[in-house]
Amino acid sequence: MSYIPDEKRYDGMRYNRCGRSGLKLPAVSLGLWNNFGGESVTANTRRMISRAFDLGITHFDLANNYGPPPGSAESNFGRILKMDLSAYRDQLIISTKAGYDMWPGPYGEWGSRKYLLASLDQSLKRMGLEYVDIFYSHRFDPDTPLEETLGAVATAVKQGKALYAGISSYSAAKTAEASRILGEMGVPCLIHQPSYSMFNRWIEQGLLDVLEKEGIGCITFSPLAQGMLTDKYLKGIPEDSRVVKAGNFFPKEFLSEENLAKVRALNEIARRRGQSLAQMALAWCLRDPRVTTVLAGASRPEHIEENVAALNNLDFTKEELAEIETYATEAGINRWARSSEAG
Ligand SMILES: NC(=O)c1ccc[n+]([C@@H]2O[C@H](COP(=O)([O-])OP(=O)(O)OC[C@H]3O[C@@H](n4cnc5c(N)ncnc54)[C@H](OP(=O)(O)O)[C@@H]3O)[C@@H](O)[C@H]2O)c1
Repeated sequence: MSYIPDEKRYDGMRYNRCGRSGLKLPAVSLGLWNNFGGESVTANTRRMISRAFDLGITHFDLANNYGPPPGSAESNFGRILKMDLSAYRDQLIISTKAGYDMWPGPYGEWGSRKYLLASLDQSLKRMGLEYVDIFYSHRFDPDTPLEETLGAVATAVKQGKALYAGISSYSAAKTAEASRILGEMGVPCLIHQPSYSMFNRWIEQGLLDVLEKEGIGCITFSPLAQGMLTDKYLKGIPEDSRVVKAGNFFPKEFLSEENLAKVRALNEIARRRGQSLAQMALAWCLRDPRVTTVLAGASRPEHIEENVAALNNLDFTKEELAEIETYATEAGINRWARSSEAG
């Protein structure tokens, strides 16, 4: 069956300017880290992408290593693009990254020029694209000069293999440095991709100030704390949930009684606002105008529908924010702190 996008797809979405750039991103973006890998495209993954596009989600976020197996999310996304969205390339913002373990040997991870540029070529091939819209350094590499890592990203832009440069999980100080280095290379840093949610608030301690000062946009990943900030785990652990499938990235220990008590309290506040907890968690991230877009994941189309509907109520009263503050506290779930605390 060929897919025909909804003609009204741009009516309900909100598009926010990414920092001081010319690019606008949808307030809700879709990430393909989980649930898009495997041997082939499934009806569910194909439907998630088309449903997202129908709802005005123009931004799809990937990385070289998304799967499993690594690379398969890009291959599957490439197949879906070809089947359903090839006529709409100019309406899409597609990103990829390199930084984590991708292939054996010393050139398959971290931040060398050798690795980044080879990886981008592989990503383009897997997705069947001539260029990506955003190419990221996926993590800070303490052993490689920043000039080399970011020089590779800038080269990708100058070669036309990427339109914009991004960094992910860099500290506030390293972000300021990265912004200066990229600026000197004539390729401004478009965007930073940090983890952020009601349970993981490190970006409020300086990073957001740097982004504002430098005019860099912010796309916050895991805004639902991988699903914890939804009603998913309120009544036990569903068999098909990420905590069962994902292994050490989302260990069961995250679902401690202390964390679940906070989830229940937040769920109650969301209910009073007439929202689901997932919706309130996304709206809460977007309460700061420096956050350009929330980068959520999904395992079924209904998640995407529910998450986009968060935009129907983005306003918080002072009292609501104060009450949320009691429970929106560090939950020990930031798996990416090693990168953002380095340097
Ligand atoms: N730059 C980086 O280093 C980095 C790191 C991590 C992620 N990311 C990016 O950020 C994206 C999002 O990360 P994430 O998947 O961890 O984000 P998330 O939005 O915090 O979690 C997504 C998970 O929450 C559950 N979910 C989503 N909507 C739901 C709803 N309405 N109701 C109930 N459950 C719902 C689903 O879990 P189930 O699968 O259990 O159904 C889904 O897989 C990734 O895909 C990737 O693009 C980047």
